[in-house]
Amino acid sequence: MAGGASHPTRQGARLIRLTDGVVTLAPARLEDAEAVAAAVQASLDTLMAWLPWATPDYDAESAREWIRAADRPGVHGVPVRLADGTIIGSCGLQNYDEPNHCMELGYWIGAAHTGNGYATRASRLLIAHAFETLDVHRVTILVSVHNQRSQRVAERLAGPPEATLRERLRVRDEWHDAYVYGVLAA
Ligand SMILES: CC(C)(COP(=O)(O)OP(=O)(O)OC[C@H]1O[C@@H](n2cnc3c(N)ncnc32)[C@H](O)[C@@H]1OP(=O)(O)O)[C@@H](O)C(=O)NCCC(=O)NCCS
Repeated sequence: MAGGASHPTRQGARLIRLTDGVVTLAPARLEDAEAVAAAVQASLDTLMAWLPWATPDYDAESAREWIRAADRPGVHGVPVRLADGTIIGSCGLQNYDEPNHCMELGYWIGAAHTGNGYATRASRLLIAHAFETLDVHRVTILVSVHNQRSQRVAERLAGPPEATLRERLRVRDEWHDAYVYGVLAA
């Protein structure tokens, strides 16, 4: 099969600002690091259950590292904000598989803000951006078989799981089987 030369990558394209009127995605600035760290710390218990990077020592410097890394080509990590600018979580595309035009979606929403559809809204915005601007054809979502909340989000975005991958996720020294979901560009 021919290489990707005939499909120039658009991964360098920066996300400027996406909104559906309820949630807004825009690149984090280094000045946002304290707010990102505070949001992580406020929800540490629920985040630690599923996300390996969420640890008790997550601080503003950790957030600055994420902000710097989230702006590189092939990675699109952004805070999720409400209309008043409050950072309530984040949403990101990563693991760009260039020849196959695939990326993986991840998300978290702080415990004080869950159950309002924000993860679903933010994910829809980012998936549309991936298809329209980044030349992505497939967005994959991997969710632990034990994470029912995230499964509800993924199912609303993608429909039922396509498969179960054995011991695909490593969380707090335990292997979790993962459901794999896929959203395809129309
Ligand atoms: C999973 C998470 C992102 C959901 O965020 P959210 O903004 O509440 O998501 P939404 O409001 O869009 O949807 C939440 C769904 O979970 C459901 N839900 C809420 N609490 C639940 C529970 N205890 N058990 C099962 N489902 C639950 C809601 O009813 C809703 O589904 P429905 O609208 O179809 O009924 C958030 O809980 C979170 O950040 N969890 C920790 C980190 C994480 O798991 N990230 C994903 C890793 S793959």
